[in-house]
Amino acid sequence: MYKLIAFDAYGTLFDVHSMGQLAEELFPGNGQAFALMWRDRQIEYTRLVTMSDPNPNGSKHYLPFWELTILSLHYVCKRMNLNLTPEYEKRLIDQYAKLTGFEDSVSVLKAIKEKGLSTAILSNGSREMLATVVESNGVKPYLDKVVTIEDVRLFKTAPQAYALLLKAFPVKKEEILFVSSNAWDALAAKWFGFDVFWVNRLGHPFEEIGEKPNYEGTSLTKVLEVI
Ligand code: LAC
Repeated sequence: MYKLIAFDAYGTLFDVHSMGQLAEELFPGNGQAFALMWRDRQIEYTRLVTMSDPNPNGSKHYLPFWELTILSLHYVCKRMNLNLTPEYEKRLIDQYAKLTGFEDSVSVLKAIKEKGLSTAILSNGSREMLATVVESNGVKPYLDKVVTIEDVRLFKTAPQAYALLLKAFPVKKEEILFVSSNAWDALAAKWFGFDVFWVNRLGHPFEEIGEKPNYEGTSLTKVLEVI
């Protein structure tokens, strides 16, 4: 029934919280809290930019996700009183650029392609950072398209961001299954009108507002059971 399986990138195919290990090495005792706050602040900035000027032609406050990632890193180090030396910053952002994929990212994308379905990423990430992480994880051969919100300069959860998939592929809304491990992203995609698979690796509760996802599973591999 689905023709396109579209994946969120950061947190879904690529493990943002793997940054915690390096952070722990650089800032002993603070790695976990640092990684969580970094991610939260990064997403907070995307929302600020989008909500403060939700212009269909793009937010005038728009900055590429890569820049927001670095600026949120600076914020978190100031907030947590951590000394971000140029060397530490380089190590953190170099690792972020080539973030580790989850162990089943490649096999799941490959299996979906073998079923004859289309695959895509739909991400807040900027074009260049997505190209780098897709390349470094070897998933490029199994993705038909990497769709970035850079084209609308509005981050998810703006509806214009999800609508990019309908422009990129000749499919109807109901023929798309959107896969995300970010509950907020899964919820917004559902509100937009996609069927949604929520990858809940950590056994978290789903959001208390809105509709529940169509499917939930503990790994990407579980997606193969519903397509
Ligand atoms: C992405 C982030 C938000 O869109 O997870 O890839």
